[in-house]
Order: sequence, then structure tokens, then C-alpha cells
Amino acid sequence: MSATTPQNDWNPGTYHRFRGQRLRPALDLLHAVTRLPDGDVIDLGCGSGVMGDPLARLGRPLHGVDASPAMLDEAQATAAYTTLCEADIAQWAPTKPPALIFSNAALHWLAGHDTLLPRLAASLAKGGTLAVQVPHQNNAPSHRVWLSLMAEHFPGRYDPASGPAVLTPVEYHRLLAPLGTLSLWETDYYQVLEPTDGHPVRRFTEATFARPVLNVLDPAEQAHLIAAYETVMDHAYPKSANGSVLFPFRRLFFTLTV
Ligand SMILES: C[S@@+](CC[C@H](N)C(=O)[O-])C[C@H]1O[C@@H](n2cnc3c(N)ncnc32)[C@H](O)[C@@H]1O
Repeated sequence: MSATTPQNDWNPGTYHRFRGQRLRPALDLLHAVTRLPDGDVIDLGCGSGVMGDPLARLGRPLHGVDASPAMLDEAQATAAYTTLCEADIAQWAPTKPPALIFSNAALHWLAGHDTLLPRLAASLAKGGTLAVQVPHQNNAPSHRVWLSLMAEHFPGRYDPASGPAVLTPVEYHRLLAPLGTLSLWETDYYQVLEPTDGHPVRRFTEATFARPVLNVLDPAEQAHLIAAYETVMDHAYPKSANGSVLFPFRRLFFTLTV
């Protein structure tokens, strides 16, 4: 995955357009975390800090880690974090064993889960928990159509292998079950996206999955791809009479207690 630069940095404004829909799975993940040993809490890929306050209520020092300066500025403004650290998760390690490593909607941006996840689990305090949620939506039209249209209209300009990816549930089970007590589940969220300028599914995905795709195009090319994408979305996720859209979105969760 490429480094964050001012040109390709996250945009907290467009990301927050669907704040409520994005927050609910994070809260569902936190609800699945039960007893914790002594130790600090890490919000890994904390982004703009939407989980800062709920995580701070665990009553332990809370440390946010993220690669995006723009997102970290927003996280700082929440005042929920004891420390915030700009770092690439691929290289990051805690300075002392944490009670909880919580990661919502971030680890799919990193490759190599087969080595990353065991490494994170090994860094926990005894009895600590690694709690993770990642979108499992890459086979749905909302995601795969960005890639197929990109390949059709701008061949060779974007490598799908460089984008977000997750393992299958079976692969996560095989990898993680030997390491501790694993709970693994998926949830389909039937999200109602309110009317926006442009198709709501385009607005939802452009801030996340489609961000690296659009980043390799100039503004005229982006407009061309977006127009083609919206035409397909009109059929895949038809608008209701008031312009809202029902957008099913699958998310994969696990907690691993070591
Ligand atoms: C979709 S946002 C989720 C943010 C937050 N966890 C939430 O629930 O709102 C994904 C975040 O992961 C961060 N991220 C992606 N790859 C990263 C990496 N390799 N190292 C650190 N942070 C990364 C991005 O900067 C971004 O803030």
C-alpha cells in the first residue's frame, strides 16, 4: 500500500458524510469486547477518532495510531486520546503489551494479514484482545464495478492488488483459532443512504474503497469514470421515490483473546 501524501491523504469531510452508518459496526465490535486485563488500549487506524470517546470510557490510557495527518488532526480535536502517533501499521509495534488492540475499518488497507495479525496478537498482554472489523464487500457491485470500469476505461492505470483486500472467513479461522479464543462473524448492514448530489453509493464508496482508484486519474478522467459508475449503480442500487437507496454492506468481525 502506498504511503500517505498530501495528494492522496484521506478526506475527513467526505468520510464523515455517512458517519452514522460507519459508526454502528465500530460500536458493535466494541460491544463484543468483554473482560480485559490490565493495560492500555490502542485504536489502530484510529482515523478521525470517531471511536475515541467510546474507547476512552474503558477507563484506560488510549493511544491512537494512523498514517493520515488529516485524520490525526481530527482525532486530536476529540481530546479523547492519551497519545496519537503517525505511523504505518505495517511497521508499528506497541511500547508495552496493551490490553486491547481495537481496529475498525483499517486493516483491509494492509497486505499480509497472515503475518500482521499473529504479530499484533503476540504483542498483547496476557488475556488481552485483538478486536477487528473489516468490510467484506469486494464482491458486491458497489466495489467490483469500480475495478471493472477502471480496467475497461483506463487499462493498466490501477493495480487492484494494491487496494483493500481481506482473507475469507475460513482463512481467518485457520490463521487465528490456534492463537487463542476466537470469535468470528459477519453482519450485513442494510443501510439507507439519504439522497445526495450524485448516486449515494458513489458518495459512500468514493471516500474509502474508490479513493486510491480515483487518485490515479486527473479531474476529467475522474468525471468520466464516475459517470460510468453511477449509470451502473442506478441499476444495481435503484433509488426510491425520494432519492434514497437501500445499500447492503457486509462486514467481517473477529475478537481474538490470547
Ligand atoms: C476507513 S478509515 C477508519 C478510521 C477509524 N478506525 C474509523 O472507524 O472511523 C481507515 C483509516 O486507516 C488508516 N490507514 C490505512 N492504512 C494504514 C496504514 N498502513 N497505517 C496506518 N493507518 C492506516 C487511514 O489513514 C484511515 O484513517
